[in-house]
Amino acid sequence: MTTRLLGKVALVTGAASGIGRAIALRFLAEGASVLMADIDEAGLGALAHEGGEHADFIRCDVTVESDVEAAAQCAVQRFGGLDITVANAGKGTFGLITEHSLESWQEIIDLCLTGVFLTVKHAGRVIRDGGSIINIASLNAIQPAEGMVAYCTAKAGVAMLTRVAAMELGHRQIRVNTIAPGLVETNATSAFWMMPSIVDEFVENTTVGRFAQPNDIANMAVFLASDESSFVSASFFSVDGGATTKRYPDLPGAFARMAETPNS
Ligand SMILES: NC(=O)c1ccc[n+]([C@@H]2O[C@H](COP(=O)([O-])OP(=O)(O)OC[C@H]3O[C@@H](n4cnc5c(N)ncnc54)[C@H](O)[C@@H]3O)[C@@H](O)[C@H]2O)c1
Repeated sequence: MTTRLLGKVALVTGAASGIGRAIALRFLAEGASVLMADIDEAGLGALAHEGGEHADFIRCDVTVESDVEAAAQCAVQRFGGLDITVANAGKGTFGLITEHSLESWQEIIDLCLTGVFLTVKHAGRVIRDGGSIINIASLNAIQPAEGMVAYCTAKAGVAMLTRVAAMELGHRQIRVNTIAPGLVETNATSAFWMMPSIVDEFVENTTVGRFAQPNDIANMAVFLASDESSFVSASFFSVDGGATTKRYPDLPGAFARMAETPNS
């Protein structure tokens, strides 16, 4: 075990799966105490045996303000304070603008943008001076994707929210940064693996020739959570294997080809 986060207390949202899970487990391995928050209670329960005595769990829907406030308070009560918060919970959807339902738009904006706002708001109230807040956006914060208007818009909003929060919380030496992952193999992207041509296109878009695992993102989160990054704030960190050098894969085309394929 290394100790880059020894004695620190972290809150991670969306911690039951994928990137959030990897970040929470890496923080624990680096010596932090971690409150893992998610709507997936079964997923949190499955993590319990891996978490050990420095882990705790709370059901928290990041779109519900009272849940988020309770999670921030819980971290303080359970572990004596809060030093690190990762606003990670999120998901995408597919829909062309002219076909997009308002309900689906609202759902993604609520989760991916308002959920981050509420997390930064309530963590920002209780986090100790010198703390670190990390918001998980996406490559799609800066690279448009046809069929993903709500997600792209929400993630671009997260990048700006981060910069405003860094300004407002800076007088307490609290740092706020964005991580923008490219394609990561998680539950959220499992549908892509049913369309190998799309994964190939994602990989071709990178300069390093692969997609990411959740730990690739956790590595950046550990750096931003630790004192090694004490002069880093209001910044946007792409962890996408260089994919911003290219155009996002053609999702509408891939879906159309799939629909034309018999027995697909
Ligand atoms: N996987 C990728 O390729 C990728 C790329 C860029 C950005 N991201 C972002 O990374 C973050 C994590 O995604 P992932 O790929 O690990 O997905 P995932 O589906 O594996 O995990 C997301 C977690 O968020 C939880 N969650 C969903 N709604 C919630 C809510 N209202 N309140 C609390 N928790 C909720 C889910 O239960 C789940 O445990 C998301 O913000 C996503 O947009 C993922």
